[in-house]
Amino acid sequence: MTMPRAPATVFVCSACGAESAKWRGQCADCGEWNTLAEEARAPVARAGRGAAPQRAAKPVALEHVQAPRYARHTTGINELDRVLGGGIVPGSLVLLGGSPGIGKSTLTSMALGNLQGAGRKTLYVSGEESAAQIRLRAERLPGAALQVPVLAETDLDTVLATLDAERPEVCVVDSVQTLHAQDLTGAAGSVGQVREVADRITRLAKQRDIAVILVGHVTKEGALAGPRVLEHLVDCVLQFEGERERTYRTLRALKNRFGSTNDVGVFEMREGGLVEVQDASARFVGEATRAPGSVVLAAMEGSRPLLVEVQALVSPSELVPPRRVVNGIDRNRLALVLAVLGRHAGIGAGSADVFVNVAGGVRVEEPGADLAVALAVAGAVKNVTLGQSEKTPLACFGEIGLTGELRAVAHAERRLAEARKFGLDPVLQPGPETPTLRAAVRSALTAPPSRLAA
Ligand code: TYD
Ligand code: MG
Repeated sequence: MTMPRAPATVFVCSACGAESAKWRGQCADCGEWNTLAEEARAPVARAGRGAAPQRAAKPVALEHVQAPRYARHTTGINELDRVLGGGIVPGSLVLLGGSPGIGKSTLTSMALGNLQGAGRKTLYVSGEESAAQIRLRAERLPGAALQVPVLAETDLDTVLATLDAERPEVCVVDSVQTLHAQDLTGAAGSVGQVREVADRITRLAKQRDIAVILVGHVTKEGALAGPRVLEHLVDCVLQFEGERERTYRTLRALKNRFGSTNDVGVFEMREGGLVEVQDASARFVGEATRAPGSVVLAAMEGSRPLLVEVQALVSPSELVPPRRVVNGIDRNRLALVLAVLGRHAGIGAGSADVFVNVAGGVRVEEPGADLAVALAVAGAVKNVTLGQSEKTPLACFGEIGLTGELRAVAHAERRLAEARKFGLDPVLQPGPETPTLRAAVRSALTAPPSRLAA
C-alpha cells in the first residue's frame, strides 16, 4: 500500500508571478527580495497541443437561472447585521479584519452566542486562545455565549474534519493566520499558508453550506498583509476599526456580494462586551467641547450621516519642520487644507505644530471633512469659539479645492437633516454665500449666526 502523496508545492513570486521549485531569498526573474511564497500546486490536467477539446457547456439565460433566496442568519447584533446586508447568508464566507485588540474575538463570540441561543448550530474555532481563555471572555458577554461549542486547534486538517463532522450552520475561525496546513512548509500566517487555509475552508464550507467568518489580523500599516490576499476569495470583507485605547469602534464592509458597502456600524467596548451605538451622532455632539478649535462635521459614513467633532490645536513649535499630527483624518488632506488656508484664506499655521483629531477615535475618509478641518484650525489659530451659542457648536461640511473654492459634496440633504435633528442649524456648507474657504472662514469667525448659509 502506498501513502497518498502530499500535493506538490511551488514558490511563487508575489511581485512578478514567476514560479520556482525552491525557495530563494531573491526572485530569479524580477530580482525582488523576499517575495517568494509557497503555494500548493493543484494538479492541473493541461490539454497539450493537438489534444481533443473539452466538451462545450451550454450557457443559460439569466432569467432561467435558479437563484434560491436564502433566509439569512441574523446575529441579533443590529449594527453587524446591517453592515452584512441583513444578516449572514448561509454558506457565505466573511472575512473580518482588524488590528489586534480591536474586538474581533469579542464581536464574533457575541454573534455566535446569539445564534446559538436562537437555536442555530455554531462552532468557534480558535487557534489564538485556549478553550479556557475563550470561556473567560464568554463569561463577560451577554446572551448564550457560554453555550457555543469551541475547538482550540491550529491544524487545518483537524479543523476541516471537525467542520465536516459537526456541520455547523455558522462557524468562526479565529484567526486565519493561526491555522497551519501540514503539506506546506511555510510558517502559519505566511501568505501561502493563509491562502491555502482559506481556500480549503472555502471549498468545504460551500459544499456543506456552512457560513464561515474568517477573522484576520491586519496591522495599521498593512504590514502583515495576509488577509489582503483573501479579499477576492471571500463574499464579504468587513473591517473593524478604531483606536484600541478608545471606546468607539466602527465596522464597515469593504466588499459585500450580498449587500451594500455603504453601511457602517458603530460600537462601544464596555465591560460586558461590545454595545451598539445607534445614536452615535447624539453622543458625539453631546461630547463636543465647544472650545476654540472644535467644530462639528456632518460626515457621511457610507450611506449614513454621522455628526462627529473635529478638534484642532495649533501651538508654537521648536521643531523644524513643525509637527503635523492627525488622528482620524488623512495626513495629506491636512497638508492640503493648511496650504489653502494660508494661501487663500489668510490663516497661516506657519511654523506652529498642528494637531487635528476626530473625537471618539472615529475615522473620516471623505473630502467633505476638509471644511471642518479648516474651520477647526482657523478657530484654534484665532482662539475663537465657533458656533451660534455656548450650547450649539458650529456644524459644517464641504470639500476644499486648491484654488480656495468650496466644492459641493454628496448627500448634502442628509447631512443637513442629521445636523438639524440635533439642533445644529444653520450649517456652514458650500453655497452662494460661502463659495470660497475665505468666505466660510470669515463667516464662521465673525459673522452673526444668521449670516451663515442655511
Ligand atoms: P478581543 O475581542 O480579544 O480583540 P481581538 O480579537 O480583535 O484581538 O478584545 C479586545 C479588548 O477588548 C481586550 O483588550 C479586552 C477588551 N474587552 C473589554 O473591554 N470588555 C469585554 O467585555 C471584553 C470581552 C473585552
Ligand atoms: Mg482575538
